This record gives sequence, C-alpha cells and structure tokens, in this order.
Amino acid sequence: MELRIKRASRIDIEITVPGDKSISHRAVMIAALSNGECMLRGFLPSDDCMRTVNAMRSLGIKIQQPEPDLLIVNGKRRVLTPPKKDIDCGNSGTTMRLLAGLLAGQTFESRLVGDAGLSRRPMDRVIAPLCQMGADIVAEGPEQTPPLRIHGGSLRGIHYRMPIASAQVKSALLLAGLFAKGKTTVDEPSATRNHTEVLLNYFLVRTAKDGDGTVTVFGDQVPESRDFTIPGDISSAAFWLVAAAAQPRGHLLVRHVGLNATRTALLGVLLRMGAQVREAIEDVDQLEPCGVVEVTGIPLKGTVIQGKEVPQLIDELPILAVAGALAHGKTTIRHAQELRVKETDRIAAIAHNLRAMGAQVAEMTDGLEIQGPAPLQGGRVASFGDHRIAMAFAIAGLFADGETIVQDAECIRESYPEFDTVLEQFMNPRRMQISTPVIGSLTPAPIEEE
Ligand code: S3P
Repeated sequence: MELRIKRASRIDIEITVPGDKSISHRAVMIAALSNGECMLRGFLPSDDCMRTVNAMRSLGIKIQQPEPDLLIVNGKRRVLTPPKKDIDCGNSGTTMRLLAGLLAGQTFESRLVGDAGLSRRPMDRVIAPLCQMGADIVAEGPEQTPPLRIHGGSLRGIHYRMPIASAQVKSALLLAGLFAKGKTTVDEPSATRNHTEVLLNYFLVRTAKDGDGTVTVFGDQVPESRDFTIPGDISSAAFWLVAAAAQPRGHLLVRHVGLNATRTALLGVLLRMGAQVREAIEDVDQLEPCGVVEVTGIPLKGTVIQGKEVPQLIDELPILAVAGALAHGKTTIRHAQELRVKETDRIAAIAHNLRAMGAQVAEMTDGLEIQGPAPLQGGRVASFGDHRIAMAFAIAGLFADGETIVQDAECIRESYPEFDTVLEQFMNPRRMQISTPVIGSLTPAPIEEE
C-alpha cells in the first residue's frame, strides 16, 4: 500500500485519536491476570495490540471484542494455560518483551516468535534480569534476538538497575514481579512512561515508588477486576500536532487524549520551537490523566533535544525531526541511540528520507543535526517497514512541493489504522466548528542538560 500526499491547505480542525498503544497492551495483560471480568473501552484495535490479545487468548484467557475498540476480558486469577503452539508477536516489541516477563513466572514452557523486523531486535535487555529472577530464557536468534524459548518457574524478587531507560524492560520485570516471591524493584536511569505502575495501581495491586526513579511491586498479588477506559494516544496525536504547529496560523484541537506527564514532553518541545500549545486535563478518575490539547502554528525555530527528555519522547523523535526540517535554524537530537534498535534504525531512516526530500542532515551515532527550513520536495520515500517513519514522512509530504508517495505504508496499521482517513482531512480540510476554549497554559520546556 502507498500513501499519496499533497501539500495541506489551511489546517483548522478538531480530532480525536485512537486508544493509547502502550496502555492497550498493558490493560489487556493486567485484566487477563485479574480475578474477573474487565470491560476495556477505547482499546486500540491495531495489529500490534491484537497480537497481545491473541497471545493472551492462546494462554487460555477468554477475550470478547463486540466492537473494534471494546474488549471484555475474563481474568482467571493469574492462571494461564500452556499455549498449543508458538506465540506470534508479529512486529510488536511491546508484546514480546512484556509477555516475556509474564511468561517467566509460569511453570510451562513457551516460545515467542516475531516477524523479520522483530527478529532483529535485541532481547538481552529482558532476558538477563528475568534469568536473575530465576527464569530460564534462551534467545534462539543471533546476538540474543528472537525467537525466545521461555521456561519459567518460581521467581524471586530482585533489585535491578536498568542500564538503559526502557519502559518495556521495566514493565517486563514488574509483571514478572507479580509472580515472584518478595518484592521486585527497578531503578531507571531516567524516567520512562509509567503506565504499568499506574495500571497496576488502578487494578489495586500494591506498588511503591520513590521520587528518584525507583519502583517496586510486591509479589504474589492478584489484580482486582475493574473496567477501564483507555485514553487517546498522544504519540498518534503527535503527527497532527506537529503539522498544525509547523503551519503558520494552523490550528488543531485534540480531544480525549492521554496527558500522562511521562508522555507529554513533545508539547514542551513544540513550545520551545515557538508554537502556541495549551493543554487541559479533564479527567484523572482512572489515574491516567486525559484531556484536550490545542496547538496554534507559527514559523518554528530549531531546538536541541537531548538528555532526560529523550526517553520521554522516544516515539516522537521521527516527527520532531520533520519539525526540525521545517523550522528556522538548526535542530539537534542527541543521546537517542535507542532509535537505532526500534522497528528500523530510525536515525538512518530519518536521515535518508529527509535528504531524499531535500533537507540538509548530519547523522551522528546517537542522533541527528538538521538544518532548516528545508524547501521539501515531494517524491517517493520508503517506510522501512516502520509505522512511525511512514507517518512522519506523510506529514513531511503535507509541507512539500509536488506529490509525496510513502511506499509500503501498510505498517501504519501497527499503531494507527485510521491514519489515512485523518490525513485525507488534513489535505482537504472542511472547516470544523471548534467549540470549547481550552484553559491552562504551558511554559516552554528548558533544554535538558547533558
Ligand atoms: C513502549 C516503550 C518504548 C517505546 C515503544 C513502546 C512501551 O520502548 O519506544 O514504542 O509500551 O513500553 P522502549 O522500552 O524500548 O524504550
């Protein structure tokens, strides 16, 4: 599938975005471990999240899906049954890494496989600490890559200092910790998304946190079944927020979007680049803050993204690189070497595509330097099989001369099945009534120290 994009006319639009991907994976897993029926509304029915649903089904959990975004999960008090065959995680790193944690605590053997892309991604980051807890996990691919053969068993809690800031690793350990004796503590070198901790609390699992990036789960607990509504995904909204911010007088309102502070660093960067950004949290009842974001565009200016900010906007770096190409002056992204082991090597993919569209880019081991504003030219760009690369360059196409064609764009279904419908609205905007003024202002995030 190809996406064909032409320059956007005036952006003035109000949208919602589908459910948060990270929260959708976690909600299904935790509900499946709970002691009864949980109704999950706002679930993201994307390819990646469906991998998690089908994995839990293959472990004996009944999950109904009466509507694409509504799941009824029948928790079985942490009892899982051996899968009849290999569990196929497709392209979903979150499914494989979180499931590795969950399966580490089971007495049966399981095998996790993935597609060609996932089979190149490093798994040693979860294997090493889970083995320390007492699991037996073997990576069958070269250099600790999938498939994973997991022989779980009786786990003991550990205190683990993560060498890299990864929410997937932290979550795998916390999920394993539910099955462990004693407490499992994870120290993060810098804060990452905290949805696992928040959802565990929501499902009444006891955890502890100290201010300094340490989180603990107490072992041998069963989550209490509850209904939950998943907020919209700010990482999906990011594409439209950048489009509106980069268009002088562009205006966008996103409703019912997740505003968890570990996920909103993008807003601080857009402010620093000169855009007007406002957010209002409207709901915190379910512990995950949710509300509206409003952006008004301006000629953006370049910025520096580095240090502790990076793990908090790791998925937004492809679209922020596009923002950098549209901004006046230099944009520098550093300390982002993790981008090299995402769905593709995102540093190389961004540099390749931005250059193909006419921007000046220097590639570094851990980031990029982009000189803007670039007069972007349409043409054919590759997705590299990576959903966020495909979407970021579709947005670049909204600012390019001539037609931009994003090739192999079907990967977008991994996180945002309806992306092309919204893209259509951005290319052919029908003015929409924007009703509610948004209250609450943000101040630009200062550039992080190294
Ligand atoms: C995710 C964590 C991040 C992120 C990924 C989703 C999660 O990965 O890039 O898209 O849901 O925990 P890392 O843990 O590898 O940083």
